[in-house]
Amino acid sequence: MKIEPLLIDLEGDDGSGKTTVIARLAKEPEFADDVFTREPGGTILGERLRAVLKDKTVRRSAWAETFTFMAARSELIDEVVLPALLAGRRAFLDRYFTSTLAYQWGAQMGHEDPTEFMRLPKIAGMPFPGLVLWYDLDPAIAMTRRPQQESAHDHFDARELDFHQRVCDSYRRLFTTYEPWKTVVRRIDAAQPPDAVYADTLVAIRDYLRTHA
Ligand code: TYD
Repeated sequence: MKIEPLLIDLEGDDGSGKTTVIARLAKEPEFADDVFTREPGGTILGERLRAVLKDKTVRRSAWAETFTFMAARSELIDEVVLPALLAGRRAFLDRYFTSTLAYQWGAQMGHEDPTEFMRLPKIAGMPFPGLVLWYDLDPAIAMTRRPQQESAHDHFDARELDFHQRVCDSYRRLFTTYEPWKTVVRRIDAAQPPDAVYADTLVAIRDYLRTHA
């Protein structure tokens, strides 16, 4: 699969702080010409599918959920990311197929080896990111950082600690065992205070850009 140096993927469990990081990155003058995306969403189709995915009353099998995420992603790549890359712009992705590997393929379906799954993004023409930032955090701590009110709960917020433990285990296995993740990943200790998490992120990105882009 082709590695795309202009693609930077931010990954981690819910509550790991990567969305806060992305919001700060988007305000940095040095990234002013770059594109920032959040999954699922970012297109008309993607936002509609996001609403369906978040709706607790919509039953879905693990594969139906997987293909819904992939459909939203496919539109985002076609409509937003590939045109940006073609114009020589970088794209920062708040989640990518790496999330589907951790949440659906790993945590829900119980697979360890990503090889079979990776046929899907490959045939769909999705490039592999040049840098993956891994916001690693104990899922019990991540849980305390998420909104607790019952009213705020959507389909994804309703999942229990043991599910998030499996998500974190999947990320760890993927990033420490399998290529090309092992080569492109940079681990960020997400248990640190927000400013330290952000500072480590900037160091990782600048190091990467010095050598790759
Ligand atoms: P969101 O509110 O955007 O959470 P976050 O800020 O943590 O990204 O909700 C996205 C949820 O969807 C989140 O729980 C992760 C989950 N998800 C998957 O299960 N599979 C995927 O492929 C993607 C992109 C997200």
